[in-house]
Amino acid sequence: MNVAPAIRRGLDVALELTVVGSFSRIGYAARRALFDWDTAPVADLSGRVAVVTGATSGLGLAAAHLLAERGADLVLVGRDEARTEAARRAILHAQPGNHIETVIADLASLDAVRAGAAQLARLLPRIDVLIHNAGLLSHELQRTDDGIELTAQVHVVAPFLLTAALLPVLRVSDTPRVITVSSGGMYTQRLDVDALETPPQPFDGVRAYANAKRAQVVLNQQWTQHAAARAIAFHAMHPGWADTPGVQSSLPSFRRVMRPILRTAEQGADTIAWLAGTPEALESNGDFWLDRHRRTTTWLPQTRTAPIEAERLWNWCLDRSGTRELIEAAS
Ligand SMILES: NC(=O)c1ccc[n+]([C@@H]2O[C@H](COP(=O)([O-])OP(=O)(O)OC[C@H]3O[C@@H](n4cnc5c(N)ncnc54)[C@H](OP(=O)(O)O)[C@@H]3O)[C@@H](O)[C@H]2O)c1
Repeated sequence: MNVAPAIRRGLDVALELTVVGSFSRIGYAARRALFDWDTAPVADLSGRVAVVTGATSGLGLAAAHLLAERGADLVLVGRDEARTEAARRAILHAQPGNHIETVIADLASLDAVRAGAAQLARLLPRIDVLIHNAGLLSHELQRTDDGIELTAQVHVVAPFLLTAALLPVLRVSDTPRVITVSSGGMYTQRLDVDALETPPQPFDGVRAYANAKRAQVVLNQQWTQHAAARAIAFHAMHPGWADTPGVQSSLPSFRRVMRPILRTAEQGADTIAWLAGTPEALESNGDFWLDRHRRTTTWLPQTRTAPIEAERLWNWCLDRSGTRELIEAAS
């Protein structure tokens, strides 16, 4: 599109202020046209190794397909053997030349995450891209066998443990990246570490989800400040609103109303795959993205994270994931 860059950027920001326009497929289509994405495709990822959690469904499966299309070798991390193998076969069917493996780990079990990380480290001499995508929105309070509320464990503690355990394998890459799939829902929520530990009663699943997604974005920045993670690029993104099995089951009323303008899973996953290869992701660290552009992490002053709360989150993750020694050793 023949429009000056400053005008394009202004239009993009105006779109963002509409929220619905930005998060829906309208935002995706508008930005694709505004920024000529077809002339700036997802990078060639031949020879690159990407690990994707939650690759059996929705955005994770779509991202895995996009990465494979660009030549990446993949390890799909799933909790169910049959579903994970079905995803591997589907991707291989579409991209027969790729090397695709599976690792089974239920993120609701920290022992399973430790075992999965050990298997990944044995399997892979190097990880170029680690994508934390697995997620859920539960309307009921559930605690895992580790004693952690399920949403907080799957989105926050388990990915923290996986990153910590895989630091040595990430560091072997010349351009290691850790990408976290957060949510625009986190814009409504201030980080509340106490609520991660002890969810207020009655349990509000949407709030617990937004708090966990906010925690992901804060941790994305926290990692960049720790020596253990030096030379690794951390980025978080949100996919807008995409029509996935997760949205269908957890937010059926929202989906009924919004369905005509929801993104496809591929549209939601575009920025995940783009971040996996773009040199832009190596020019900065700890950023938050939507539709291939950096975005603010706070719209409302009351949702800003105080440094002391960010530090509390870091320490809570160290304690809950049992990684204090691991991180110190890597520093
Ligand atoms: N769709 C959207 O509009 C939207 C918007 C904002 C953010 N997001 C985020 O995008 C990510 C993907 O969501 P989606 O919409 O694609 O949902 P989805 O279709 O339900 O996919 C979720 C994936 O996470 C996996 N998963 C869930 N719990 C797990 C556990 N305990 N251990 C291991 N894997 C687990 C699921 O595995 P199974 O197949 O075994 O269930 C599945 O592969 C999530 O982090 C979500 O919060 C989505």
